[in-house]
Amino acid sequence: MLVLVGYATTHGSTREIAERLGMRLGAAGLHVDVRPMTEIHGPSAYGAFVLGSAVHSQAWLPEAQDFVRLNGELLGTHPVWLFSVGMPGALRGPWKRMAYKEEPYITESLPGDVPYRRHWLLSGVIRREHLSRAGRLRFRLMGCRFGDFRDWPGIDARADQIARELLSR
Ligand SMILES: Cc1cc2nc3c(=O)[nH]c(=O)nc-3n(C[C@H](O)[C@H](O)[C@H](O)COP(=O)(O)O)c2cc1C
Repeated sequence: MLVLVGYATTHGSTREIAERLGMRLGAAGLHVDVRPMTEIHGPSAYGAFVLGSAVHSQAWLPEAQDFVRLNGELLGTHPVWLFSVGMPGALRGPWKRMAYKEEPYITESLPGDVPYRRHWLLSGVIRREHLSRAGRLRFRLMGCRFGDFRDWPGIDARADQIARELLSR
């Protein structure tokens, strides 16, 4: 089975997560294609979909939303896993409790009603230069810190879970 790992990124951390998922799925014995969602031609070639986007303003990037909107019917008949890359890991102190509260906002803002096996909100990378002046101020007021918060063992574990489910079909 050919699995698509499709992603949308602004600063590259979601691409690297997608590549890691793809590598791990490949190592488990699946055929995998890792591509930006803007460069997927002929999506009906795929038997399963792992789709992820960077999160901006509690929603997927527009090109990722477009892919889901345009391919809703196809996705509805295949196994689908979703991942969102945000910044729960950047939160500190009392804000830490809020970390995963945005997950339902993200999934509810997805277009259509695509059934998916699992959605994961993962921590990505946030650097000072990614944000506007106002954004940096808000970020500081929320007690966030800049850095790379990706949990590679956790990402590998998600890939292994997907592989197990696909290979047991
Ligand atoms: C302008 C901007 C807005 C963001 N808004 C959110 C947000 O609403 N929720 C969140 O969890 N992360 C937010 N982030 C954090 C990013 O999603 C995170 O840094 C992610 O790793 C970016 O992925 P990328 O490197 O693939 O672009 C925002 C980042 C930027 C630059």
